Amino acid sequence: MPPMKFKAVIPAAGLGTRFLPATKAMPKEMLPVVDKPAIQYVVEEAAQAGIDDILVIIGRNKNAVANHFDSVPELEVKLKDKGDHDRLRRVLESSDLADIHFVRQGEPKGLGHAVLRAKAHVGSSSFAVLLGDDLIDERDILLTTMLAEHERTGAAIIALMEVDPDQIHLYGAADVEATDNADVVKVMGLVEKPKREDAPSNLAIIGRYVLSPAVFDVLEHTEPGKGGEIQLTDALQELAADPDGPGVYGVVFRGRRYDTGDRVDYIKAIVQLAADREDLGPELRPWFKEFAAGL
Ligand code: UTP
Repeated sequence: MPPMKFKAVIPAAGLGTRFLPATKAMPKEMLPVVDKPAIQYVVEEAAQAGIDDILVIIGRNKNAVANHFDSVPELEVKLKDKGDHDRLRRVLESSDLADIHFVRQGEPKGLGHAVLRAKAHVGSSSFAVLLGDDLIDERDILLTTMLAEHERTGAAIIALMEVDPDQIHLYGAADVEATDNADVVKVMGLVEKPKREDAPSNLAIIGRYVLSPAVFDVLEHTEPGKGGEIQLTDALQELAADPDGPGVYGVVFRGRRYDTGDRVDYIKAIVQLAADREDLGPELRPWFKEFAAGL
């Protein structure tokens, strides 16, 4: 069989209330992390995994995201004239990453509803969902493992990460059973944002999924759940509970992840990524030390 060809879907239509007022006129996925908007890291991750067809689900602030991935000829000419080849390369990169399409989610009715908006574009191919405010450090591998696992099993694949039990109420939590592979678990059930005492484990769902179009049939009838929103977790719970289907598996991620929709995590992401960068780290690291010593 030829290798599967995946598309990617990046939902970026949430309200971003945790980041107001910065997100009043701009989606949180466009907030800069060092010198690129968060969503560009996510597009780069998909492209790195070999996906060249990307659909972004956008909300009321469409233009900021679409403009970012468009080319800006007058800027390119200016940089060329100035001989600023490094910046020119970085600007060109942002418009050359992949084929990027957009579809609108009229109202932010939840992540499940946003993913359902991708049905027509995705068609009959399997696809990855990457949350536009959830960054996986490019030095750590996750998506390629998930794509391979989907290709092997045909199951829905989610990404799981151990979190402090006090934090599990912020995530979907998974009830799991071990498999022969220490990095892969079988998902027996899922609960969206459970109280600590009701959580089946401290394995939290993070923002990467690899799904087959079967999920759309489930999302069509998924009722609003936690927070009155149509939850992707509820649709996946239905797939996990279906005895006749391929089920749901989780890839356990143990690398670096930054939730840029959360203010503290956003600041940590910038500090960490900037400190590690060759162009900025040498100047920043001594300053961070001095700053921390004074706290
Ligand atoms: P979040 O719950 O983190 O996004 O959704 P939010 O609702 O924008 O955030 P806060 O809590 O108000 O600050 C996870 C992902 O799903 C997308 C978001 O853009 C984010 O990438 N999303 C969420 C949609 O695209 N549409 C929705 O209706 C809800």
